[in-house]
Amino acid sequence: MNGRRASVLVLHGPNLNLLGLREKAVYGEETLASIEVRLSELAQNLNLDLTFLQSNHEGALVDAVQSAPGRHQGLLVNAGAYTHTSVALRDALAAAGLPFVEVHLSNPFVREAFRHRSLLAPLAAGVVLGFGAASYLLGLRGLADLLAAPGDT
Ligand code: DQA
Repeated sequence: MNGRRASVLVLHGPNLNLLGLREKAVYGEETLASIEVRLSELAQNLNLDLTFLQSNHEGALVDAVQSAPGRHQGLLVNAGAYTHTSVALRDALAAAGLPFVEVHLSNPFVREAFRHRSLLAPLAAGVVLGFGAASYLLGLRGLADLLAAPGDT
């Protein structure tokens, strides 16, 4: 990163604005705002700048990914249900060409079969799932390591 502070775009897909209210047995009680506070605290220690976007709209997420190159060095992505359906989001991530980590609060592999396939994961630098809010924190740590990797410093 040539000594610059790396910037990471954190994308949250549909229904993640309802965390804390939504299916608490699956997703826990923590709100998205609280997760973002914890991510911001960790980002300080990791010397990263974070930008957050939550959207229920596929096109808004695609727009955000398209505008990421030149502004951000990596992405932390919980695309929610679009993980399993969105060719458009996958294509945007492929076009952006930035390293990203896919995260999920739940473990989709122990849930319905339609959640077992991620269209994004084959492009991801890594995937963290099943640890609740900690998936985001672990994912950010992994992304920070990647961005600070030898050859990129
Ligand atoms: C999720 C898993 C998805 O299958 C689901 O559609 C979500 C949340 C998770 O974080 O566990 O909205 O991405």
